Amino acid sequence: MKIGIYAGSFDPITNGHMDIIERASLLVDKLIVAVLCNPSKSKGMFSIEERLLFLEESTKHLKNVEVEFFSGLLVEYAVKKNANVLIRGLRIVTDFEYEMQMAQINKNLLPTLETILLIADVQHAFLSSSMIRELATFKGDTSGFVPQCVTKYIENKL
Ligand code: PNS
Repeated sequence: MKIGIYAGSFDPITNGHMDIIERASLLVDKLIVAVLCNPSKSKGMFSIEERLLFLEESTKHLKNVEVEFFSGLLVEYAVKKNANVLIRGLRIVTDFEYEMQMAQINKNLLPTLETILLIADVQHAFLSSSMIRELATFKGDTSGFVPQCVTKYIENKL
């Protein structure tokens, strides 16, 4: 059974993440969407519980997708989950260096683990969680960029 992990901060999930999740779920038997900490990012806008809630709600139609939080190294999590592949999305050229570095380090730490980079759909190429956080901060309309449950939550919370 092929098990894939799509890890990220997901603060919050965007339509770009959803596109990668839907496409990745067709490539593996089981896809684990994992919220992990990115030490180079600040505490974030949404709590881990909120991020998980959004992910669970947005992926409930995908029967081979699970959502989890893990605190630690991605490769440790991959071993724990018996995962074969890591999935990441690649948007614009500037993503490439970071994704390459991460893939190389993870490969070095765990040579049996492959990283698959899925090219973002062009309509999501400039979409990021940080843009959504900024829109949310200034009460901008997020509805075209995130799953409906996220927009509703933002509107009620802020
Ligand atoms: O959505 P992001 O912030 O680009 O996701 C990055 C993430 C969370 C996948 C990455 O920071 C990560 O793997 N964090 C866990 C620690 C780790 O294993 N880092 C990579 C090797 S140094």
